[in-house]
Amino acid sequence: MTIKALAFDAYGTIFDVHSVIKLCDTLYPGKGAALSQQWRTKQLEYTWLRSLMNAYVDFWQVTESGLVFACKALGLALSDENKQQLMNAYLHLTPYADVPPALQRLGHLPLAILSNGAPQMLNDVVANANLSAHFVHLLSVDTVKIFKPHRSVYELAPNTFGVAPHEIGFVSSNSWDVIGATHFGFRTFWINRGKQPLDELGVQPYRIVSSLAEVADEVTK
Ligand code: LAC
Repeated sequence: MTIKALAFDAYGTIFDVHSVIKLCDTLYPGKGAALSQQWRTKQLEYTWLRSLMNAYVDFWQVTESGLVFACKALGLALSDENKQQLMNAYLHLTPYADVPPALQRLGHLPLAILSNGAPQMLNDVVANANLSAHFVHLLSVDTVKIFKPHRSVYELAPNTFGVAPHEIGFVSSNSWDVIGATHFGFRTFWINRGKQPLDELGVQPYRIVSSLAEVADEVTK
């Protein structure tokens, strides 16, 4: 069974969300890693909670709320200027080193981002990393106003590509995302960037890989 299109998670998969550590550490010396970690953890929790509460706000607002909470939890003063700088850093995240060469090799397939990110955030982060030319679609949950792993998010990909879920390869480093996507019916690749055990949700991804190069190996052979 051939894969006819690929969809990629953005944050943590294409872009290193912890590339904000440097700025976090400049603004709050010695606290950069802790702030980045808490920020990401709360950002994700808020997506799940808001989906369950049926209280969607976009990922920009969720990201800002996560930052505000993380600073409060760590006892760090968040001035308007620091907040603006840190939020702006989210539009300039660094792609992982394996990303550009793999996207190049995968250019024979239609490629999309399928992300929690708000449309403007996705446009900006992809453009700032010079990756726009690789993607035919930047699909945002904002269209359906609920976050991953709700199946209506994953439905955006087959609807947009016009191919069946099992013909779409879905790539994510977030194990809960890859599990949601597998449950939906995609052919999934979990890039285990964090070298973590798979979440115990009774679902096994199609492939577990350590870099995007392995996805390219599998899909181009
Ligand atoms: C995304 C989050 C899950 O890009 O990383 O959708």
